[in-house]
Amino acid sequence: MPTTLEVKTPRLVTALPGPKAQQVIAADAKFMSPSLTREYPLVAEKGHGAIVEDIDGNSFLDFAAGIAVCSTGHCHPKVVEAIQKQAAELIHISGTDFYHHHLPQLAEKLVATLPGKEAKKVFFGNSGTEAVEGAIKLARYHTKRDKLIAFYGCFHGRTLGSLSLTASKNTQRKGFGALLGGVEHIPFPYAYRCPHGHTAETCGTETLELLEQQMFKRLFAPEEIAAIIIEPIQGEGGFIPAPAFFLQELQRICNRHGIMLIVDEVQSGVGRTGKWWAYEHAGIEPDIVCIAKGIASGMPLSAFVAKESVMTWKKGSHGTTYGGNPVCIASAMATLDLIENGYMENARKMGDYIFARIGDWPKRFKIVGDVRGKGLMIGIEIVRDQKTKEKAADLRDAVISKAFHKGLLTLSSGENSIRMSPPLLIDEEQADFAIRTIEECLRETEKTV
Ligand SMILES: Cc1ncc(COP(=O)(O)O)c(C=O)c1O
Repeated sequence: MPTTLEVKTPRLVTALPGPKAQQVIAADAKFMSPSLTREYPLVAEKGHGAIVEDIDGNSFLDFAAGIAVCSTGHCHPKVVEAIQKQAAELIHISGTDFYHHHLPQLAEKLVATLPGKEAKKVFFGNSGTEAVEGAIKLARYHTKRDKLIAFYGCFHGRTLGSLSLTASKNTQRKGFGALLGGVEHIPFPYAYRCPHGHTAETCGTETLELLEQQMFKRLFAPEEIAAIIIEPIQGEGGFIPAPAFFLQELQRICNRHGIMLIVDEVQSGVGRTGKWWAYEHAGIEPDIVCIAKGIASGMPLSAFVAKESVMTWKKGSHGTTYGGNPVCIASAMATLDLIENGYMENARKMGDYIFARIGDWPKRFKIVGDVRGKGLMIGIEIVRDQKTKEKAADLRDAVISKAFHKGLLTLSSGENSIRMSPPLLIDEEQADFAIRTIEECLRETEKTV
């Protein structure tokens, strides 16, 4: 029987979940926090490339990549080698207290990926939410202002500062009491549901007007606003790209008023859209960029990168025990090499390939309302009726569950979308399998409507 290392497409050998998986799920229910939202009963055991093997020996094609984290696939040999070598030399020494050569080495490499004339500096953390927390603090510190503006539908994390910006699902905020004061949300340019009938290129004009004509005049004077934070492509919110003009205008507004533009690239960054950073498609230069997920192929590492003129805080004003851990940095160095030397270009190429094949799904499947995204950030919005655009979370969930039972891992996103965010190394055979499988699931699901 071929091993996980040898297969490129799924092979199912038991009913799902298999007998060993069922035992793990029972133990998990007994001991693990019930707040975790498992979409379907996958009990992962091994991974290689774009394949995940479960505890019963079933292998799956992974178009979820651990929520867009495993950018170089599972256990890439170069990443594994870098981690193993570093683990044998030095596992930890806090970068807050001492120097180690990995820190400036990765910072320099990371800064080189960000376009723009101004020099930049980096702070390393462990998770996306920490990058956002740090960015909030830096923006407040630098501007000496405290107000923040974020967007409906965006997700920036679950710790109390970042949660104050998150406005994705109310279950993520409900029950936790008062969050940060001085935070307001405005509509994200969501072209498929644009109330003003705009296209994907022009949606958002009215939001910019709202910002300048209503918010700045009636709620927050612009000179009180520390930062506006946006995901260039909403991740948890449904894989919704912001139009280029919108990001450019936002940048102009921020520049005019000395407001920091924070771009959250936690999900969309590190080559996934065919460029290092999704905001590059709009040609802007944010003041602060938040990075995590794909940067270290699964090792916990995040960063926020700011213009040198912005990262002006004093010694002791921000720190971390683990952030920039040597093993995570070694993994990131290997990851960035792989992204730079082929995987980013592959993400662009395979993204074009997939979008060319699925762009007509709204014409071919009556439950597909919209197909959108960039590169290997692919969103499919499921509706009950294309005319009314009624959101169909139940049908979306059915498609995802059927796909799992056919050996394809995907995730939900937003209220009623499917997201596909595979590792950046997938090939045409794997893309074809994923497309064919989702088409079968759509066909089976629409028969139930
Ligand atoms: C855009 C964005 N920002 C921040 C976060 C939070 O990252 P973490 O879960 O690593 O804290 C996420 C997580 O999905 C995200 O998608």
